[in-house]
Parts: sequence; structure tokens; C-alpha cells
Amino acid sequence: MCAYRSSEWFGKTGKMGFLYRSWMKNQGIPDDMFDGRPVIGICNTWSELTPCNAHLRDIAESVKKGVLEAGGFPVEFPIMSLGETLLKPTAMLFRNLASMDAEESIRGNPMDGVVLLTGCDKTTPSTMMGAASVDLPTIVVPGGPMLNGHYNGEQIGSGTAVWKLTDDLKLGKITQDEYLAAESCMSRSAGHCMTMGTASTMACMVESLGMCLPGGAAIPAVDSRRKVLARMSGRRIVEMVKEDLRMSKILTRDAFENAIKVNAAIGGSSNFIIHLTAIAGRIGVDIHLEDYDNLGSSIPLLLNLMPSGKFLMEDFFYAGGVPVIMNELNDKMNLDTLTVSGKSHRENIVGKCNCYNREVITSYDDPLIPEAGIVVLKGNLALNGAVMKPSAATPALMQHTGRAVVFENIEDYHSRVDDPDLDIDETCVMVLKHVGPVGYPGMPEVGNMVLPKKLLEKGVTDMVRISDGRMSGTAFGTVILHVSPESAIGGNLALVHNGDMITLDTKNRSINVDVSDEELSLRRKNWLKPAYVTDRGYVGMYVRHVQQADKGADLDFLTGKSGDEVLRDSH
Ligand code: FES
Ligand code: MG
Repeated sequence: MCAYRSSEWFGKTGKMGFLYRSWMKNQGIPDDMFDGRPVIGICNTWSELTPCNAHLRDIAESVKKGVLEAGGFPVEFPIMSLGETLLKPTAMLFRNLASMDAEESIRGNPMDGVVLLTGCDKTTPSTMMGAASVDLPTIVVPGGPMLNGHYNGEQIGSGTAVWKLTDDLKLGKITQDEYLAAESCMSRSAGHCMTMGTASTMACMVESLGMCLPGGAAIPAVDSRRKVLARMSGRRIVEMVKEDLRMSKILTRDAFENAIKVNAAIGGSSNFIIHLTAIAGRIGVDIHLEDYDNLGSSIPLLLNLMPSGKFLMEDFFYAGGVPVIMNELNDKMNLDTLTVSGKSHRENIVGKCNCYNREVITSYDDPLIPEAGIVVLKGNLALNGAVMKPSAATPALMQHTGRAVVFENIEDYHSRVDDPDLDIDETCVMVLKHVGPVGYPGMPEVGNMVLPKKLLEKGVTDMVRISDGRMSGTAFGTVILHVSPESAIGGNLALVHNGDMITLDTKNRSINVDVSDEELSLRRKNWLKPAYVTDRGYVGMYVRHVQQADKGADLDFLTGKSGDEVLRDSH
């Protein structure tokens, strides 16, 4: 048996071996666990402040059983957990920090393989990014979605219902008490958002990349099969260490292309782009913004899930989950790519999966929308690109020219949007500045601005909206996001004035403001770069080093990897 990385700790003789083993033994670990067997780190994003991941202590126990059954030595460790709902100003601000935590915790400790326990939106990309920069054998166990929400006899979905009910409350269609009752109806079990929001999108990304065992994305968090998946993953990671099946052997360019196509077919979140690009940057695969459009935009929408459709993740699981999607896409995919199972997607799924509900997952030949993938737009409003999710947009608005109504920042928007005197109608284009990576900071999910009350009352349901921010994967609308370069660093978005005419031409992939270059440079001369929010601490470092959305918003010095080098002894 070759010596694993962990033998540089536990296999040592003399003082250092004593130090490394003795303190571990205070946990009741017998001598033979230090005999050179694979040590498996279970990287846990459990936290009661991340409700979507609050059940992961329990899932970790199942992983441990599997590791022990396969002859490994499991060690669970916590890292910074990012909860989407509580963390201010936005969990996205800390994705890169959490990735650094994951990376250094893995590299600095005696581990030969890693299991990533993930769930809420940012907990998947942050751990994946950190693990990719170390590149040990790694497997992901997604925490699974909540059970479907039920309210007044109807299914309601995480997030998506909040946007709809909030509009209804604003219009007086429901009372404050009904609104309150919906809270507990929506979130009624452990797990993450059960719409095709960012968490479900990330779980499907993991599965299509080949980073979890087949079928792992859609199993509800509380279904006993989630624990079976965790246990099987615990067994499997021990084998992966023996096979030296590292992340970089799975995360090839082909694997990323698969993920882009699956994301299109499931109507995945626009946040997918930023996270996948950041992961690719860590593992060393070249992914450009244009790839999402070139590879994904011709892929049809096959999954009928909120916010693009009507069902929820529990239904997706019963219908057969991600394997059915990949099977439908079959010859559009690179099914021969390797997965953590040690087998290719083709070996994992072809001939082994059935669709049990064609209302939930359509066949490739009878899709919900013929072309569903993310559209990448460029023009003088977004020189390095912006994105739009057509499956969440209104077809009639995808070719549109309208008068800009500009909000300088989120406070300006909140203070004026419902003003009855605001000069706006449904043909206008709402512009929101200073919500990008540097500007907010952290690029929050505010791009799907709620429409002005007076237009909602008129029955208007969608308008073209543009910002350098993101939107929740659970949201919908003709919303142009991730404008790069962002306004806070002097992107042309900063120079848009009220009354400028803006043209969205989805067919030609362009987004332009009808202002001459001369006028834009004149306006630039009068533009004042806003000061950074702070010079101090992590946020001070973040605003100086964060890359723009089209590059995945990773910190510039985190791109690439430092590998799994065993560092100097501590004493
Ligand atoms: Fe955690 Fe949606 S809030 S997954
Ligand atoms: Mg979110």
C-alpha cells in the first residue's frame, strides 16, 4: 500500500507523531485508526444560521458510517457557512472567504480525501472552489431540497412564492395574517429551497459535473434515500483515494460543457454562470461568458419547475431527477466523461433511468421551450457582457426599446419606486446602478426589482430591468443582470441618465443605450468614482481584488490552485 498524504502526520515517529496522534485520541479513537488508512475529511457547512443546511450534522453521521465501512478514518470539520436568507449585506460577499476557509482547512490538515456537505446557494460553490484549489479526491453530498410547500391547497415554492405573495399583499389581494401563515407553509421540512433556485441549480450542477453519485441532486433532504446517498458516498470516497481519482480528473472542459447544457435544460439559476466560472478558474479550465450562450442557448427547457414552470424539486425526484435530463440530452452531452462513481455518465445512467412523469420532465422532442439556455448580451451598456435567462422572461419584451428610469442605488430605488408621481410606465426600462461586486459590495440579488405599485395595480407583470447585480434563482422576469464592467468601477451603466433610450435586442444578443460615444465620454469626465465602502478587513480586501461578474467574481489572487502540498510541521 502506498503511503497517503495523512501519513505525513499520523505515520510519523518521535515527537511529531506523538503530537499529531495523541490529541486526536482524546476523542476516543483507537490506535489502529492511525495505521495508514485513508483519512477522509467531511467538510461540513452545518449552521443553525444557514437553515437550509441545519440537518447536515445528521447527514455527516451517515457519511461517517460509510467511510468506516470501507476502512477509512472519517474526520468531520466545520467551515464558514453561508446562509442566503440571514447574512447581510449578501452571502455572495463571503463566498470567496468561505472558499479560502475550505481550501486552507483541507490543505493544512491530515486528509487524503474530502466529502463536501453542501446545500444553501453559496455553500456549494464556496466549498467546490476551495476543494478545487487543493485538488484531492473529492465527492459532494448535496443536502437536498425541502419538501414541497403547501398553502391554501396550492403548492408554493421557496422564494418564488415570496415574490408573488408580496405583490399580492401590495395589491391588497391577501391580508397580513394570510401572508404570515404562508411563511410556515412554504418552509416545512429540513433542506434547501425546493424551487429551481440557486441551491437546486448548484446540486444539479454538481451532478452533471460528475461530482456526486448519480441521482444525488433531487432526493428530498428528509427522504431516507438521502442518508443512503451520504453513506454510499462515504464508502465511495475511500475507494476514490485508493484510485487517486482527483477532482481535476473529473472536472474537465467536457464536464463543464455538460453542466452548461444541463443547466439550460432545467431552467437553472443565472447565478450558475458566476459560480461555474469561478470553479473553472480554480481547477484551470477556460470557460468564457460566451460559452454559456454558445453551448446552452440552443438547448430546450425540459424541466417544468418553478420559477420557469409549475412543479417543485420533490416532483423532480419522483419523476427521475437529473439522470433523466442527461439521458434526454444524450447525444448533446459528453456522456463519456468520468464521474466520482469511477464510471462515466453513460455507464451510470443509460438504460438505467426512466422518466416517471412527463409533465415534470418532458422528452427532448417535446420541450417546454425550444431554446432555454442563458443568453449573453453585449453592447455599449455591457462591454464585457451581461446575462438574461429567457425561460424566466416575457417573450414579448425580449426585443424592446424603452425610456430609462434610473435608480442610482438600492436606497434610491426603495425611496422612489412606489411614488405615485414617478414618471414611469410599462414600456420604460428600469435601471439600477451600484449593485455589482464592488458597488454594493458583494453583488446582491436585487436585480429583479419589484415593479412600481401603480403599474402592478394596472396589471403589469413584467418590465425590462437592467442592473449590475444578480437575481435570486427563484425569481423571474425580463431581467438583465451581471452587467460588466459594473457601474461602481466606471462601466457605462454608471453613465445612463433618466430619459435615455435603451434597446434590448435578444435576437442579436445586444444591449445598448442610444447615446453617442462622444456624449458618453463627456459624461465620463463628470463622473466621480465612488469611494470603497471600507478599507478594513475582509471587505476591504474583497473590493480591491474582486473580479467582475464575467470572470466569476472570484478574488484575483485566488484563481488557480496551490495543490495538496504537505506543509511544514507545526512544532
Ligand atoms: Fe438557502 Fe434558498 S435560502 S437554498
Ligand atoms: Mg439565492
